[in-house]
Amino acid sequence: MRFSLNIDHVATLRNARGELQPEPITAALLAEQAGVDGIVVHLREDRRHINERDVRLLRELISTKLDLEMAATEEIIQIACDVGPELVTIVPEKRQELTTEGGLNVLDQIELLKDTTIRLQDANIEVSFFVEPDINQIDASAEIGADIIEIHTGVFANAESEEQQFDELERIRDAVNHARKLGLGVNAGHGLNYQNIKIFREIEGIDEVSIGQAVIAHAVFVGLKEAVQEMMRLIGS
Ligand code: PXP
Repeated sequence: MRFSLNIDHVATLRNARGELQPEPITAALLAEQAGVDGIVVHLREDRRHINERDVRLLRELISTKLDLEMAATEEIIQIACDVGPELVTIVPEKRQELTTEGGLNVLDQIELLKDTTIRLQDANIEVSFFVEPDINQIDASAEIGADIIEIHTGVFANAESEEQQFDELERIRDAVNHARKLGLGVNAGHGLNYQNIKIFREIEGIDEVSIGQAVIAHAVFVGLKEAVQEMMRLIGS
């Protein structure tokens, strides 16, 4: 299973003070040195974290794979076609949400998604739909011509009991098998972390996971001791 790192929250931290640090591009290059298979960013309409400059620089500088998460809106489709990431993952987007809250309702917007998919594929970009582990949504994704689906793992990650987690894992397993039979590539993500990845990786047939929050949060702690010591050396304390 490949691992792509979502670096949105490096940009969240940068934007919190309107300054230049931490630089998301540096994070991407460091992650590549560490061995990730790809870099994921979500260019939101409100630009709350990643901005267009980040996407364009990433396109120039990274050497693995750029996965651009985006809503199917005219402005962002035009940017995607111009920038040319290897992969676009279409997600639903709500202005008020803290993070992407669930999968796309593909069945509700067949024409829009078909048109968007054709435009992106014509620009040599692979297209993935972020969906719930729901057979009907997966069938519709295949019919429209998506190359890949990314299964929303948020319900699994937020399960309140082992039983609920097990049930959701089964639902994801069925969804993966169904998508594979239809010839779709299968990615997965949302809420995966250092604990739940152990049980999640038992599912076969997933090409790639996309993880952000858990890894960026952990990086603060595993890097903090060194950062404090470096400042102490400079201060001479
Ligand atoms: N996949 C998609 C489509 C997402 O929207 C997100 C969140 O930005 C992720 C994966 C990563 O989720 P998390 O930050 O919880 O690891």
